[in-house]
Amino acid sequence: MPDVTLTTLQGLKQKGDKIAMLTCYDATFAKIACEAGVEMLLIGDSLGMVLQGHDSTLPVSVDEMAYHTACVKRGNRGAMIVADLPFMANATLEQTLNNSAALMKAGAHMIKVEGAAWLAESIRLLAERGIPVCAHMGLTPQAVNIFGGYKVQGRQEAQAQQMIADAKALEDAGAAMLLLECVPSELAARITQAVTVPVIGIGAGSATDGQVLVLHDMLGLSLTGRAPKFVKNFMREHGDIPTAIAAYVQAVKSVEFPAAEHGFSA
Ligand code: KIV
Ligand code: NA
Repeated sequence: MPDVTLTTLQGLKQKGDKIAMLTCYDATFAKIACEAGVEMLLIGDSLGMVLQGHDSTLPVSVDEMAYHTACVKRGNRGAMIVADLPFMANATLEQTLNNSAALMKAGAHMIKVEGAAWLAESIRLLAERGIPVCAHMGLTPQAVNIFGGYKVQGRQEAQAQQMIADAKALEDAGAAMLLLECVPSELAARITQAVTVPVIGIGAGSATDGQVLVLHDMLGLSLTGRAPKFVKNFMREHGDIPTAIAAYVQAVKSVEFPAAEHGFSA
């Protein structure tokens, strides 16, 4: 068990203290992020883009996710490790269980899955078998081909109400955490109010219980030369990586990041 547990995170939410999460793909960064105060390390399938150079997250395999999870585990110093279930690794319930088990055996403490209310059955099954689940909602990059691009989700009130209902349904199904990506800040605030589990945001404003960024983005490293609007480059003012990550943690805790300019309106 890591030092940071679900109980720790629940306590932070109750006190109104913000949770700092960062993506991480290897042992050295895991250690540096822990020393900087990061509470949750996410082995995101964003590694398909930032490490592997693909133009989406779809090509990433469970074996690749397990490899990076094992690398992060070796450098971890007490953070909770969350690993993404990659595209189609949850095509069937049996695959969901087997692939989640592979990531847990590699060192994850929690699995993250992209979707909406339809995830309820698999989340219940995983929780029953001892696997905490984070449900990733809003802009779910594995569905980029349905969305027609990386677009803000939930801008219309009908969609917003659906997302709130889905969030509650997934909490009822046993989700231990929610993650909201690229949703209007006001909707993220409503969802955070509507559930009792911690809610992490990225491009979702400052009202969520915590924040996550892709490591490379917050270090100002980019393959495409374009950074999304919700990203802040913490290297610019802080000349070395450990200091930049510590500044990110500090900015999340003090609610200086994200600023209004990093969020979206309805
Ligand atoms: O893969 C990833 O890095 C993610 C975060 C952007 C939340 O899912
Ligand atoms: Na991801």
